Amino acid sequence: MRKRMLVLLLAAAICMGGCGQRPGGTEPVANMEEDEEQKDSGAEQNRKEDGSDAASEGTDNTEGEDGNIVSGEPASGAEEEKGIVQAKGLAELYQENFPIGIALSGYILQNTEQYGQVILENFNSITCENEMKPDSLLDQAASQANLEVEDAYLHAAVHFDNCMPAVKFASEHGMKIRFHTLVWHSQTPKWFFTEDYTDEGRLVDRDVMLARMENYIADVLGYFQENYPGLVYAVDVVNEAFDVGDGDETGIRMNKNLWYETVGADYYYQAFVFARKYASKDMKLFYNDYGCMDKADLILEHLARAREEGLIDGIGMQSHLSTDDKIQHKFMLAVKKFCDAGYEVQATELDIGVKEDSDSAFLLQGRKYRSFFKNMKALQEEGYPVTGITVWGLNDDLSWRRDEKCLLFDGDMNPKNAYLGAMMDPSIPDVE
Ligand code: GLA
Repeated sequence: MRKRMLVLLLAAAICMGGCGQRPGGTEPVANMEEDEEQKDSGAEQNRKEDGSDAASEGTDNTEGEDGNIVSGEPASGAEEEKGIVQAKGLAELYQENFPIGIALSGYILQNTEQYGQVILENFNSITCENEMKPDSLLDQAASQANLEVEDAYLHAAVHFDNCMPAVKFASEHGMKIRFHTLVWHSQTPKWFFTEDYTDEGRLVDRDVMLARMENYIADVLGYFQENYPGLVYAVDVVNEAFDVGDGDETGIRMNKNLWYETVGADYYYQAFVFARKYASKDMKLFYNDYGCMDKADLILEHLARAREEGLIDGIGMQSHLSTDDKIQHKFMLAVKKFCDAGYEVQATELDIGVKEDSDSAFLLQGRKYRSFFKNMKALQEEGYPVTGITVWGLNDDLSWRRDEKCLLFDGDMNPKNAYLGAMMDPSIPDVE
């Protein structure tokens, strides 16, 4: 264990000494096209937890307006040193606080001999990057075939083949699953909303779509309860339902959203009604979104009814950040706001992009990761219900934000400053 940490520190020392980041590897990126499509659609700017007033933050030796930044000096303290010496990895370091999750693609799960050890050393929760989204679970051929033999009009067929590698890996290794995601405008096939389950068919009406939604949620949650009780601890019931730019006059996402078109503006509320009806007690129900730092009020307003009726447990803050973003004095304020309103909070898709490919940029990235983990831990220890951090991908080359090198490991699986920061390594100074 000590040997591993020494190797790690050595790797970091070499990196900080000026080698820069390694050039990318050649692994295929699962479903990158879908993700890139979203990026190209202009959503990228919005979907980062945008800190528009963060431009004045420096790289190394600057001091924040609160004077909190430790400039250029390694963060001192026996506590951190104790952490790095004693913890085998992230999961162990934060075991008293919350689970540490990782989003994994099918590709990684097919190559566990290459990636398994790092995963097991650092993470105790898995989110499928794509394999539990509606377009992975819904079965068009079976739905169409069933239309002929029985009344499947209200009940589309599902299958779990694509997510089985993740389910098996998690079960075999005592890890938990964050289920992502039931109801989303994206990565949900059009045929699910049409009369004959074809992409060309006519859209069904509200009642039919509500019945299909209920059956889908019942089937999916029921499957996990029956076959893998206790495996799924959190469920993203609804993803990204609020967006002023793409929304109606109240900010509910309207554009390119077949849920809105068929069910209406209350589709997200209905999803929570069904999820509560079919979820087991140990499945916490989440609303998940990007840009939560800037739209916390909008989210809280729209979720108030579901919250009052006890249909929802938590807010998933996607946390697609950049090194410009203020962590302590902006992101954490939103965390507190959600907690104060009665929700638990998880960071569900954390990645922090760099602005340029330079040593100072990667050091700043390490400091931001340090700040993120440190502040989430501090809030949890103060009694705020912060119940998880999931990092959105294993290494820079497999990330949907590949150009921004936003993850903990480089393309060759070398731990970056980002990793050392998250590990509270004393070589990574504090920053706002
Ligand atoms: C959103 C979704 C994720 C993923 C990312 C892009 O944040 O919630 O599932 O698709 O976009 O990779």
